[in-house]
Amino acid sequence: MRIDILTLFPEIALTPLSDSIIQRARDAGLVEVFGHNLRDWSEDKHKRVDDSPCGGGPGMVLQPGPLHAAITALKKANTRVILMTPQGIPLKQARVRELSQETHLLIVCGHYEGIDHRIIESLIDEEISIGDYVLTNGAIAAAVLCDAVIRLIPGALGDAQSAVEESFSDPNLLEAPCYTRPIDFMDMKVPEILLSGNHAKIAEWRNQQASKRTRKNRPDL
Ligand code: ADE
Repeated sequence: MRIDILTLFPEIALTPLSDSIIQRARDAGLVEVFGHNLRDWSEDKHKRVDDSPCGGGPGMVLQPGPLHAAITALKKANTRVILMTPQGIPLKQARVRELSQETHLLIVCGHYEGIDHRIIESLIDEEISIGDYVLTNGAIAAAVLCDAVIRLIPGALGDAQSAVEESFSDPNLLEAPCYTRPIDFMDMKVPEILLSGNHAKIAEWRNQQASKRTRKNRPDL
């Protein structure tokens, strides 16, 4: 897979993708990630890429010119073009799984009030939000999306099983609580059942606990 990230702040997007599991996936050649500065496509002598919103209001809007030039330069026949925006479709693990099968993602990062809507209508395949809150910068959201996608590329996670059994494999159930040694920590004990060696009982307990946790933390599921 190849991922290109178009942003005013390539370092913000790339830094979280330059260590640990994701960097190892990049080193292993499972994915190539490139950051591009939108200003490189500005024709303005001050490298300006934004202007005030038509119709008035606060903030600035990314102009269509530099975005059009950049996206058409970076886009290939098989590219999925994604815009990170709080106005997008909320990201779910099922969509992450689908995106991990793509060969080329071009991720466009919004900034300020947003990007000129004509670019969304003409060049963006889908708008994605990582949650119902507003970040200063779509590059942070792009890093989140990339991390979620790259870890699902076969070979990226050492233990393939850990991607199968985690939360949202079943989109309606969170994971059960987990414990490790010491068995007694500050007088708090690991549940006895987990030490029993009875795998059927342990699976049953985990299911019950997963349901309980889901009802408490995510009643919407
Ligand atoms: N840019 C700012 N906030 C965002 C969000 N919640 N999701 C995606 N992109 C964003």
